[in-house]
Amino acid sequence: MSIVELARPEIQALRPYEAAEQVDDTIRLNANESPEVCAAGKFRRPLNRYPEVRPKRLQNGLAERFGCAPGELLVTRGSSEAIDLIIRTFCRAGVDNIVTHTPSFSMYRHYAAVQGAAVTEVRTKAEQDFRIDVGALLAECGPETRVLFVCSPNNPTGTLLPVADLEKLLEGRSESSAVVVDEAYVEFADTPSVTALLDRYPNLLVLRTLSKALGFAGARCGAVIAQAGVISMLSAVQAPYALATPVVECVEDALRDNIEAAESVQRAVAERKRLAQQLSGFGFVNKIWPSAANFLLAEFEDAAAIMQHCERQKILLRHIGGELADCIRISVGSASENDRLLQALETFSETHCG
Ligand SMILES: Cc1ncc(COP(=O)(O)O)c(C=O)c1O
Repeated sequence: MSIVELARPEIQALRPYEAAEQVDDTIRLNANESPEVCAAGKFRRPLNRYPEVRPKRLQNGLAERFGCAPGELLVTRGSSEAIDLIIRTFCRAGVDNIVTHTPSFSMYRHYAAVQGAAVTEVRTKAEQDFRIDVGALLAECGPETRVLFVCSPNNPTGTLLPVADLEKLLEGRSESSAVVVDEAYVEFADTPSVTALLDRYPNLLVLRTLSKALGFAGARCGAVIAQAGVISMLSAVQAPYALATPVVECVEDALRDNIEAAESVQRAVAERKRLAQQLSGFGFVNKIWPSAANFLLAEFEDAAAIMQHCERQKILLRHIGGELADCIRISVGSASENDRLLQALETFSETHCG
């Protein structure tokens, strides 16, 4: 069975928007565009013309990079847009729900709320290093569970979901839910993407982003990878011309120049280790969790005081709050930025810890 059949019936019936034809070397009088070339910026495709409905070359480039067929990938405005598209495609408002683990990325809950889909969250425990319990996730699924979200490595805990556990989820919900693996931080982990599982599990969707390891957060570009039938359906839901010409060309060029994340990832991983080691030397740091991402989650004696102190030193950290009220998420910066943080914490230690 294809999980296309699990989508909202009106989405299954939806036909893609019929955009004005775009043919090279023709006079375009079919899209109510301006005939005058806009002076702003210099792009291969002039800005007075709409971009491609779906950016083909970029789609091919990202598919090659992420190890799937072009038809198995939809380019999105960051992976955030993909989360929204998936929930709107599969969840009937007021009827269906999503299941995920907590603490995790808040956008799953956010877009479920926008769509009127209920959310069931399975708590992971600090004392178990926030291990994701797939048995507990499966136990929470019911007939209305259309989408399961797992984030690996997880934001904000840095936890990885072992592939064998993911396979249990995919098998457990094979006919009944889309299982989305958010791999926003996978480049920083020691494990490969789970995209290779796509052939075996038709209910798998993988989210990738260019915002983290690849350094293109400002371009707003990501992708969802899934079986071709699922991608066609998500594409029908996405706005036409979703990716703007400047973004498409900038990312196309970067892919052509073969943006190499490997070195910056290596630096981030080395800095993550250094930061973790140095942080653990401060008496006011209670715990640092193992992280497979480009951040660390740490528990402090007085997280609010640390936040305040660092802010005064013009260093911004992320206080998550809620069940993690004593914890702060620290993004791994450059070596000099991390040095600044460590100096600030040294000053804190001198002034607050007698
Ligand atoms: C786990 C996770 N998924 C997705 C995103 C969204 O990233 P973007 O929309 O920039 O691709 C983020 C951003 O912080 C994230 O932490």
